[in-house]
Amino acid sequence: MCGIVGYLGPRETVGVLMDGLRRLEYRGYDSAGIAVFHGGKIEVRRARGKLRVLEEAIAGESLEGKVGIGHTRWATHGRPSDDNAHPHKAGSIAVVHNGIIENYLSLKKVLTESGHVFASETDTEVIAHLVDHFLREDFPFEEAVRRALGKIKGSYALAVLCEKEPEKLIGARNESPLVVGLGEGELLIASDTPAVLNYTRDFIFLEDGEMAVLSDGKAEVLDLEGKRIPREPKRVKWNPLMAEKGGYKHFMLKEIMEQPRAITDTIRGRISEDRSEIIFEGLDSDGKMVKAINRIALVACGTSYHAALVGRYLIESLCRIPVEADIGSEFRYRNPLVDEKTLLVTISQSGETADTLAALREARKRGARTLGICNVVESSLSRESDYTIFTYAGPEIGVASTKAFSTQLVILYLLSLFLGKRTGYISHTQMDEFIGELVRLPHLLEEVVRGHKEIERIGRKYVHAENFLYLGRGINYPIALEGALKLKEISYIHAEGYPAGEMKHGPIALIDREMPVVVLATKDDTYEKVMNNIEEVHAREGRIIALASQGDKEIASKVEDVIFIPPTVSLLTPVLLTIPLQLLAYYMADFKGNDVDQPRNLAKSVTVE
Ligand code: G6P
Repeated sequence: MCGIVGYLGPRETVGVLMDGLRRLEYRGYDSAGIAVFHGGKIEVRRARGKLRVLEEAIAGESLEGKVGIGHTRWATHGRPSDDNAHPHKAGSIAVVHNGIIENYLSLKKVLTESGHVFASETDTEVIAHLVDHFLREDFPFEEAVRRALGKIKGSYALAVLCEKEPEKLIGARNESPLVVGLGEGELLIASDTPAVLNYTRDFIFLEDGEMAVLSDGKAEVLDLEGKRIPREPKRVKWNPLMAEKGGYKHFMLKEIMEQPRAITDTIRGRISEDRSEIIFEGLDSDGKMVKAINRIALVACGTSYHAALVGRYLIESLCRIPVEADIGSEFRYRNPLVDEKTLLVTISQSGETADTLAALREARKRGARTLGICNVVESSLSRESDYTIFTYAGPEIGVASTKAFSTQLVILYLLSLFLGKRTGYISHTQMDEFIGELVRLPHLLEEVVRGHKEIERIGRKYVHAENFLYLGRGINYPIALEGALKLKEISYIHAEGYPAGEMKHGPIALIDREMPVVVLATKDDTYEKVMNNIEEVHAREGRIIALASQGDKEIASKVEDVIFIPPTVSLLTPVLLTIPLQLLAYYMADFKGNDVDQPRNLAKSVTVE
């Protein structure tokens, strides 16, 4: 969740670092810092707070240098403060780090006993001192880093500078992503490609247990034994402009609005021309995997977990394979019933969520086959899964997930059709119908997005409410959870999602004039029951905002506000319902003047357990 950027080349290094950090700020934002080799030594500047505090601190300074590293921090060990901000310096070494060093206390003790003086509460500082320790034993910089890495346990993405070898920048990774960018006469390091996409599209993606040594215009990859590993760069297709706000006030709004495009991209190339097949190239190519499994476990965290809950309905309805959906941190610790007949499907926007990865590793240990649904190519999740299906949502910058979620739903729909065909549960005619509706989906979403003014009006009306209830049934119940989560995350209004049928077992006690209730009431098998719930809320003077199918005249008379969505098959309704709920949360948060893209206390990618 922190961000790293490093630069070695002829440009104005501070400018490159600050530009990279700006693009990474969404990953962690309680403090930031840079280190630049300037005037024969490493100069470090750090500041608690948003990046602009650091910008103000260095404004007017001329910190010229050819090599530098930068960091945005989201605190784990040690509270946010100037001293705990990275880079950390020890002797002639400066380090920035993402991850957690598990054995830092024991290392700190040994180093302190041998005379090292620590200036922060962080685990990271131990790395700087360790490298410095080996330098003092006369090992060259590269060897000193390698030896230090041999001592530390835990997760890390690192960038390291050394005053003794100022033309060199070293990176290393273990369980936390790090890429090396190869520009024209310049080299870059970043925890995330968008940070440096302005300078290059060619990247080396480091694997766990690898170091990269950048010097003399080239980048070498080596393992922790010091063995050189040949590695071809890969070209990344994302355009830096795709990661900009595109004229919207916030990334989140842009990302909500671009969902029709994201979903079109996600579907593209995955349906055969005659619409009879779903194409996931290489997945179950010999037909053995689907035959061998007798259950599916869906595992994810946060918003992605809500996609998993929808996925459970989809797969069970379209394939009749038993499915369970679990939260990453719960799955791992409950001694799950997983074996070689289980297909473990992990869902993650970033592919770096620690709890989801831990669940994946646990399931692999138990022999499960693994399939990842992920938005980031070359993420840990995609590299550790037997097979990965990518959601082509493009980079998602807003901390609250939007387009990644809807594209996950679409992938789960495609996957259900894929599995349903193979298990023989879906007929040719049904396949044709389901695919036909999927192909229409982006147009229907355009229609929903066009209705944003009405949602803005509703958002303004309820902005002073302190609590919200979201109700849904069946496949729409996870969307009630997701609607409530979105509202909580960015507007800081307390909200609960509930299965509508459970309302009378508790939440009904909360209903009065002060409690807006969002009811997902589209026309499907559960419609009559949901209408009963609406009557119950109405009778207790609750204020209802309904999401209903276009043409439903009856509902308008029973509720205070209604948002209509175009009709489609019930299995795709969750995607259409999601967008108005995202917009409602967005407008309410914006009316409250909140930092929509970087809500307090939240991080885009939670890479610690
Ligand atoms: C964080 C983000 C959420 C996201 C969750 C899971 O909490 O703020 O938006 O849903 O992590 O992230 P993942 O990358 O695994 O989908």
